[in-house]
Amino acid sequence: MQLLKQKVLDEGIVLSNQVLKVDSFLNHQMDPVLMKEMGKEFTRLFDGQNITRVLTIESSGIAPGIMTALELGVPLIFARKQKSLTLRHDIFVEKVFSFTKQETNEITVAKKFIHSGDRVLIIDDFLANGEAAFGLARIVEQAGAEVIGIGIVIEKAFQPGGRLLKEAGYRVESLVRIASLDDGAVSFADPLE
Ligand code: G4P
Ligand code: NA
Ligand code: NA
Repeated sequence: MQLLKQKVLDEGIVLSNQVLKVDSFLNHQMDPVLMKEMGKEFTRLFDGQNITRVLTIESSGIAPGIMTALELGVPLIFARKQKSLTLRHDIFVEKVFSFTKQETNEITVAKKFIHSGDRVLIIDDFLANGEAAFGLARIVEQAGAEVIGIGIVIEKAFQPGGRLLKEAGYRVESLVRIASLDDGAVSFADPLE
């Protein structure tokens, strides 16, 4: 997505060879016009898939998620993150380990919001190791619903998440794929459009 690549080049800050800061349009301040275009692009990519729910995770997945859900005309559900949980029967729970933050969260979705027969599009802001996306996919599968695909705003293609998700059989569509953050610069995996 050309508009997003340009935004990454103009406003992204390379914090290290692993981490890109994009707090001026995605993770803190948000650019609603760009978000709307992302929603349109995910909808175009997953056209004809009869998606019934969009699923993301709080907090930064919510904005691209809601724009996609609006475009598709379906509800958005965001999984909640919790530190530890007493057993409950009305929620789906999965453990997600973050390599970036070196912590485990339990992510939860109320059972009443995803049902068997649902066709679910998972959306998230970043793809690194894929832990969050796998956790969301396991929740969809616990519900007896189907993961139609995984839409990612920024994939760090030098980390293994994208490959692991594809090897597991999921369709992954990333709006921007970053090949490297070495030497303080962003290089994209796909040639410029
Ligand atoms: P994974 O799910 O792909 O395995 O990723 P990981 O656990 O490493 O990511 C942990 C958090 O860090 C996630 O946000 C993720 O979006 C974010 N993240 C990972 N790599 C980058 C990066 O290069 N730049 C930025 N800006 N964020 C990155 P989170 O904890 O869920 O926070 P929130 O922003 O959604 O509230
Ligand atoms: Na994030
Ligand atoms: Na996220």
